[in-house]
Amino acid sequence: MKILESQDIKLIPLSAEHEVEFVRLANIPKINSRVNKPLPYTNTHFQQQLDKLQNSKSNFVWMIEQNEEIVGVINNASGRDLRVFQGGYWIDPNFWGQGAASAALVLVRDFLFRECAAERIQALVEPDNPASIRVLEKCGYQREGLLRKFYPSLNRGLLDVIIYSVVK
Ligand SMILES: CC(C)(COP(=O)(O)OP(=O)(O)OC[C@H]1O[C@@H](n2cnc3c(N)ncnc32)[C@H](O)[C@@H]1OP(=O)(O)O)[C@@H](O)C(=O)NCCC(=O)NCCS
Repeated sequence: MKILESQDIKLIPLSAEHEVEFVRLANIPKINSRVNKPLPYTNTHFQQQLDKLQNSKSNFVWMIEQNEEIVGVINNASGRDLRVFQGGYWIDPNFWGQGAASAALVLVRDFLFRECAAERIQALVEPDNPASIRVLEKCGYQREGLLRKFYPSLNRGLLDVIIYSVVK
């Protein structure tokens, strides 16, 4: 995995050195409630995630760096079909509204299409998450529909989610 970079943002492949920062971000209530991570998210969870990542060629996680500070995380992975990817992102609330998620998603989208033979990149978002919906739309994703009781969350049962995608 390599570093992805644009004028605004740098994406650094997740590694052991990011443990403290990743665990901190994953435990922020405004993030944890949206990204379906165990609460508390522990160092053991981080190690398990890293192990899984190291055994996979189509599962990517990057730390998002803006102005030389780590501000968030973005991930994407393919499932059974290697041409179809799905992922998410989260930003430290102290840095919301500064374009970090959108800049990161553009980099990941272009990387998956150009270098990973992706043909479809999709995302699931809760209907009451306008900031994330805006990020997807700014990055060219199109709304495909509401999936009712579709997403098995850890603590909130089956969630209604809107499916968005961008295709090659
Ligand atoms: C969603 C999230 C990643 C956005 O990160 P961010 O870096 O603030 O995003 P950006 O600055 O790139 O863009 C946010 C856009 O949403 C808009 N926005 C923010 N809150 C909004 C609201 N309540 N209603 C409508 N639009 C809103 C912003 O104005 C901005 O759009 P603009 O550039 O046209 O002004 C961040 O809020 C977050 O981490 N949330 C918790 C985790 C999460 O929800 N992850 C996504 C799961 S699907």
